[in-house]
Amino acid sequence: MLEKLNASRIESADLYDWDELVQEDRVHRLIYTDPAVFAAEMTNIFGAVWVYLGHESQIPANDDYITVRLGLRPLILLRDAHGKIRALFNRCTHRGTTLCRKDKGSARIFTCPYHGWSYLNTGKLRAVPWPDGYACNFNEAKYNVAQVPRVDSYRGFIFATLNPEAPSLIDYLGAITKPIDEWLDRQPKGRIRVCEANRLKYKGNWKLAYDNSGDGYHVVFSHRSLLEMENRQADVANKGMSYYKGSPDTAPMYIAYMGNGHHFKDKRPNIQKRAGGLWAVEGPAPGSEHYADALRQRFGAKAEEILDLASSEPVNINVFPNFSLLGNHIQVFEPVSVDETNVTWYGTAVVDEDNALGGAVDEINALRMRTQEQFPNFGEVDDLANFEEIQRGLACQEDEWIYMHRGLGIPGRVKTDENGIITAPATDEVFMREYIKEWKRLMKATPKLVVQREP
Ligand code: FES
Ligand SMILES: [Fe+2]
Repeated sequence: MLEKLNASRIESADLYDWDELVQEDRVHRLIYTDPAVFAAEMTNIFGAVWVYLGHESQIPANDDYITVRLGLRPLILLRDAHGKIRALFNRCTHRGTTLCRKDKGSARIFTCPYHGWSYLNTGKLRAVPWPDGYACNFNEAKYNVAQVPRVDSYRGFIFATLNPEAPSLIDYLGAITKPIDEWLDRQPKGRIRVCEANRLKYKGNWKLAYDNSGDGYHVVFSHRSLLEMENRQADVANKGMSYYKGSPDTAPMYIAYMGNGHHFKDKRPNIQKRAGGLWAVEGPAPGSEHYADALRQRFGAKAEEILDLASSEPVNINVFPNFSLLGNHIQVFEPVSVDETNVTWYGTAVVDEDNALGGAVDEINALRMRTQEQFPNFGEVDDLANFEEIQRGLACQEDEWIYMHRGLGIPGRVKTDENGIITAPATDEVFMREYIKEWKRLMKATPKLVVQREP
């Protein structure tokens, strides 16, 4: 069965000359518009590499679950009765219906709504109604729910892959762990808790979002109204994305390609290194001044560090293919079809069990939640409009190419260090050229994906 599946997959990955579709300076429109390419991606990318599923704080206790997707495969991501994190296929082994239709909850047993087969949250079949009508042996493993064979976490972030040949998660993440660590280590004990989400969708290919996630070239044009609005709220006209004004390529921020498709836009060098430096740029928003005044009265000079924790960190940490840390949010891309994508922005809260923040944790988290009203609501919509308009533009079949050659061929502009990290000025498209090379390498491969079942 799996062998036949793999055989048909080789053919679909072989549909195109991938070197023709992805060239040094440009890509062909078909990589965004062809359903056959999308179908191959669901295997070669959203199956064969480590894909982000969720955060451990979303399933804090044994028996907690959330429902997520691995490509198009519905999953139940859970902590089983023994504390083990598992990603079960959300699919009854009887007739294939989904077992769980809720977003989240707590369950030791999942009972199929169709004919009532029930399963333990380890994936093992527990009981079937009127078993006398069956001659088979229900202890056979094939009746247990299929699950993703490799599930692993990096500091709370849970990833999974169906590919036994994939490297370990830590090796896959590689150099991008450094900015992830720095992002986490700002918080007490390096921990966060994932909050509720802001859910968006657009009619466009998922790669349009990943292409854009490190794009510093569009900011002042696409996000002009947000930029102007934010600057009206600040004491000085330097808020938020203002560092893209003037000549962004000479600013100290930069874009870095970190290997394995991951890239990192680091705008932190634009911010003054002092307590309160981040708040001064990122903090001002309607109503936030009351919190800031109250915290300063309560904590004096220490209030500035507290306010920095409430601010969005100026980074875009993008883990191929579907995970970004932006400001203090987690963004997850979820392909739906070749021209439809879900984009979910999760807020994150500081956890302070030891009261290192002197009782300010609720104020910090209230202010962090309000940052959803900044870029995630008023900037992301600009980007989604662009993605939809690109998808519309790509219907022009005769005009085949999309360029990503900004910075290519300019001596001294793009630099590679001894670890292979490639850096360039903030508006450079080198990260797109590099990640799409990795995408091409993966699309040429013939991964043998497997599932696992409890014995
Ligand atoms: S499909 Fe689940 S019990 Fe029949
Ligand atoms: Fe944008």
